[in-house]
Amino acid sequence: AALVALSAFPLLAKSSLSTTRPGVPKRKKPVLNDTVVEANLVAKIRPTKLFEGGPELPLWTYGDDLLPVIRVPKGARLRTTLKNELPEHTSIHWHGIRLPNHMDGVPYVTQQPVEPGESFTYDFTVPDTGMFPMHSHCNLSTQLGKGLAAALIVTGDETRPYDDDVLCVIKDWHLDENGNFTDFTTPKGASRSGTFATARSVNLQKLPVMEVPAGGDVRVRMMSVNNSRVNQIGIEGANGAAIIATDGQAVAPFPLKTWRLGSAMRIDVVVRTPEPGKEVIIYDYFAPQPVPIAKLKSVGPMLDRGEFDPAPLYAPDIAEPDLSNAIHERVEFTATATASPPDINLPDGQVLKMADALCLSDETFWAINQRTWPQDGHKTLPAPLFNLKRGRTYVFELVNATPHVHPIHIHGHTFLYLKSNKKSLPKHFTDTVLIRPKERVHVAFVADNPGDWMFHCHIVEHEETGMMGIINVT
Ligand code: C2O
Ligand code: CU
Repeated sequence: AALVALSAFPLLAKSSLSTTRPGVPKRKKPVLNDTVVEANLVAKIRPTKLFEGGPELPLWTYGDDLLPVIRVPKGARLRTTLKNELPEHTSIHWHGIRLPNHMDGVPYVTQQPVEPGESFTYDFTVPDTGMFPMHSHCNLSTQLGKGLAAALIVTGDETRPYDDDVLCVIKDWHLDENGNFTDFTTPKGASRSGTFATARSVNLQKLPVMEVPAGGDVRVRMMSVNNSRVNQIGIEGANGAAIIATDGQAVAPFPLKTWRLGSAMRIDVVVRTPEPGKEVIIYDYFAPQPVPIAKLKSVGPMLDRGEFDPAPLYAPDIAEPDLSNAIHERVEFTATATASPPDINLPDGQVLKMADALCLSDETFWAINQRTWPQDGHKTLPAPLFNLKRGRTYVFELVNATPHVHPIHIHGHTFLYLKSNKKSLPKHFTDTVLIRPKERVHVAFVADNPGDWMFHCHIVEHEETGMMGIINVT
């Protein structure tokens, strides 16, 4: 039951098998590449009128094109210089990229933060194909909330070309009734499922309509750079839709019914587009009622592609976990009972605010294995949650003991999703796993990338109020 309707796609029966993920062909030769790609990003405030009739918003972005997209072939060396012209320190974290630790962009953990006026060059070889979000790892609810994000697309995974390739970058905006920024985080939101934004966008537009060839197989790369909201993606009006990658990594194509995308999560979907003039509507079904977020409009002469049989992508070069020799760890995500220390009533009738006395700037609401991330940014580093042996396979049982969903993200590694007590999903690679209330998800990975790696919930306010820790690989 783990694999959804395999028989819907006759190609799968014939394809070569990889042990953990049937239906995903292995690449024959390794991709060798001496390409160097240079990119320059300038983080600064770019006042922009985002929505019609709305005011100019002081967006924080990495480039004049507001949502930069960097494309680079697998195996290439990418050198990106970040110049910080923002009023506060920042960084770039390359979410999902298995890069060397000192390039990971986490202030105080992997690098000193990039101060205003300073530059930093990120220089590494891209190991895996797919689409990856780039975002700061500093003051994230504000920096991401104001728009500081970009996309890295690593090419070279297609076994057969698709008829088109379109992006859907999902981003909510925290706006008040006049269209100005409102609070990116509130104690009420942070202690529950997040402070939800009010305005939705895809590719920075409200309900964009993208033209695509009629009757074709179109690769739609979807990614969320929301602070909080989880989307449940579904599609109507297509002549077929199949997921071919999760978090950028190939999976045997299976029909898209709906798929939940938390912050920083991605899916690649092949959509068989309808007759000229017709539209495919992409919905978020998570809301109380379905909300259309983007449209694909078929144009041009009708292509003849035969039966819907989407081509799989090449398998990634991620080490296959050795499940028979794995070390098992239980990882429990909880709400902390001690949100903030109790105030003390002094004999003279005054109240001593303990949070003030202890200089706690924020409250802590969340914990991983009973430990919370300290509340003064990253400056006081806690001991690692786990010390892993380099080269060993680990199976993490991720246990959600809270009434909220949490997209759980690991840096520097990619999980293989094994099973859940609640949902039956195909085995797939993922760097951010959504765990539902009362859900227990098993994931496996080879701890093959040395360093101190962040491990946290990607609901930004949860990360900032305790649900984060370090995993050390030595
Ligand atoms: Cu996309 Cu530590 O995050
Ligand atoms: Cu969370």
